[in-house]
Amino acid sequence: MKTDLFYYTGTGNSLWTARTLAQKLGDARIIPISRIPGEAVESRADRVGIIFPVHMWGVPRRVIAFLNVLAKDPSRYYFAVAVNAGQVAATLLQLKKLMHTKGLSLSSGFEIVMPTNYIPWGGPGPKDKQIMRFTKAGEKIKTIADAVAKREKRAVERGPLWQNMLFAWFNRLSFSHVPTMDKSFWVDDKCNSCGICHTVCPCGNIELKEGRPVWLHHCEQCLACIQWCPPAAIQFGKKTQRYERYRHPEVKLSDMIAVSTPQGEEEKITESV
Ligand SMILES: Cc1cc2nc3c(=O)[nH]c(=O)nc-3n(C[C@H](O)[C@H](O)[C@H](O)COP(=O)(O)O)c2cc1C
Repeated sequence: MKTDLFYYTGTGNSLWTARTLAQKLGDARIIPISRIPGEAVESRADRVGIIFPVHMWGVPRRVIAFLNVLAKDPSRYYFAVAVNAGQVAATLLQLKKLMHTKGLSLSSGFEIVMPTNYIPWGGPGPKDKQIMRFTKAGEKIKTIADAVAKREKRAVERGPLWQNMLFAWFNRLSFSHVPTMDKSFWVDDKCNSCGICHTVCPCGNIELKEGRPVWLHHCEQCLACIQWCPPAAIQFGKKTQRYERYRHPEVKLSDMIAVSTPQGEEEKITESV
């Protein structure tokens, strides 16, 4: 049985989740959402997964845009994995509702907790805690693979009620401001004009002017630019010079560049473990 896993990622947690899940399921393709042009996308796989980071207690804009082009087919099994840092809140409920309005039915939705990449609030935390999260995430992916293999229908996972209500409201408040939140990015003297920020940005929001990044205000806030900058020269607001950067340890810059390159080969994973 074939599976297509569409993923979106800023720092590799969702890519790693997609890869690990693909290995468990076997005969699966992993396809970066950021490489999909704005035209209709049809999947011929029996099972279609959407794997993405939770952004501001909700579904990232780029993933919502992807739902607009994903072809509807009631014979397919649609499922989702919301990769987060401990506050999934009502993200999967939001996704289920959004999919419903587009004629797509989400059969199951899972959350996975990974280290945070939201650097405006701090670094990813101590390495031993990160490793604990990777280990638990690996175990959870096994459970997800079992459920998906059986095409199980179940309620989507969600946070506590108070979190869902409060944070869904925060999400609605912040959503329209996301594209221009890049006004808080700036670059310090460590910038060596390598241009990696421009290359790694999954939405073409960074231009180089005299070798330095300029943000174009159609940002998705994935934070790939700040997190992948080799000399940690990109900053956001006043505090990030003090904070450690985060990238998933098994995801390489070359994987991310492939993600942000519009034309390329999809990664096909056939091994089942
Ligand atoms: C703009 C932004 C907002 C975020 N909001 C949330 C959130 O509401 N809840 C949460 O648990 N994690 C949040 N995070 C953390 C990410 O969801 C988490 O680190 C995720 O694993 C990153 O996945 P990625 O490496 O595939 O991008 C946020 C991260 C970013 C960049």
